[in-house]
Amino acid sequence: MHNYMPNSLAGQELLSLNETRQLMREKLTGIVPDVEIEIKAELAYKINQLKAQKNAVILGHNYMEPALYHSVPDFVGDSLELSRISTETDADIILFCGVQFMAETAKILNPDKQVLIPAEKAGCSLAEGISVENIKALRAAYPGAPVVTYINTYADVKAESDYCCTSGNAPAVVQHLFDLGHEHIIFLPDEYLAKNTAADLGVEYLEPILEGAAHTLPNEKCIIGWNARCEVHELFKVEDIHDVRKQFPEVSVIAHPECSPEVVNESDFSGSTKQLIDYVQNVNAKQYLLLTECSMGDNIAAENPDKDMLRLCSFRCPYMNLITMEDTLAALENIQYEVHLDADIIRRARTPIDRMLAIS
Ligand code: 13P
Ligand code: SF4
Repeated sequence: MHNYMPNSLAGQELLSLNETRQLMREKLTGIVPDVEIEIKAELAYKINQLKAQKNAVILGHNYMEPALYHSVPDFVGDSLELSRISTETDADIILFCGVQFMAETAKILNPDKQVLIPAEKAGCSLAEGISVENIKALRAAYPGAPVVTYINTYADVKAESDYCCTSGNAPAVVQHLFDLGHEHIIFLPDEYLAKNTAADLGVEYLEPILEGAAHTLPNEKCIIGWNARCEVHELFKVEDIHDVRKQFPEVSVIAHPECSPEVVNESDFSGSTKQLIDYVQNVNAKQYLLLTECSMGDNIAAENPDKDMLRLCSFRCPYMNLITMEDTLAALENIQYEVHLDADIIRRARTPIDRMLAIS
């Protein structure tokens, strides 16, 4: 196993209700109201019992709300880490506390296991923003250009792609293709991640054109994007950063690369959710302003009680927030909601994911 941060409770022997309550209080007091800790400790206890009985593993994305995040996942992480971990488990059931595209990725990597997600409708605005027909139209417009697809897409879209990437390895994946001699790379579906990746690599970003596109291509390396955005990260504005810097001149601003290039430019650091967590742990700053889903700020604060986290908490991911402890318990009780994918889609979607995992 890699040394991913195991959850503070789940790394231990099966705990009694009192031990569960005690450890959750130690971690979450001051972050979550006491009354909520009491209720959620009971849920955590039941979930961890059932998890052991059913030989399940729980993978939790970094955006999970703090009580869930700190009590039931065996592993927490960003999309890349959780994909890797899903390939290393002996459990019969993978219960994914994250959104649909993440659970689908775990299923693609583990076709013979039961993969469950606690809420059926946990989507993602990026995954909704691109279709198989869109990729086919782009391939026709830019013949020969390889397609790199962000992991925030559904399985049918991955199946049409050459490589996958995540927010943690997008520049490495695109650079790999440049090194193989490709000049023009189609990068889907997140317009902002594509622009931020192009800026990182010092290459031009081109808006996609479906008619007469070949004539617009430069004689040098470039990334051709698409027009989907994360409905949460697109809300952060440069003015927000300026306002906070006025009040806290020494603040370190850290942003997810799904934010606009302007916001990323004004920030001190940008990276995947795991890279943002590592930044706070490893870099000393007076305060930190985290520009991503707000629950993660609570999770970082719980892990780093000595650090001063400022957050703009008006923006929540409505899909990640559908994953509750109640539904996580119901998922194990009723073995719901199982991810089912067509065998041919699984086979074709696996190639771009494997290629990505081999690079980074
Ligand atoms: P990470 O892979 O960085 O965790 O991002 C997933 C995501 O959906 C961010 O909005
Ligand atoms: Fe999708 Fe944005 Fe939610 Fe991440 S934060 S799951 S990219 S909608």
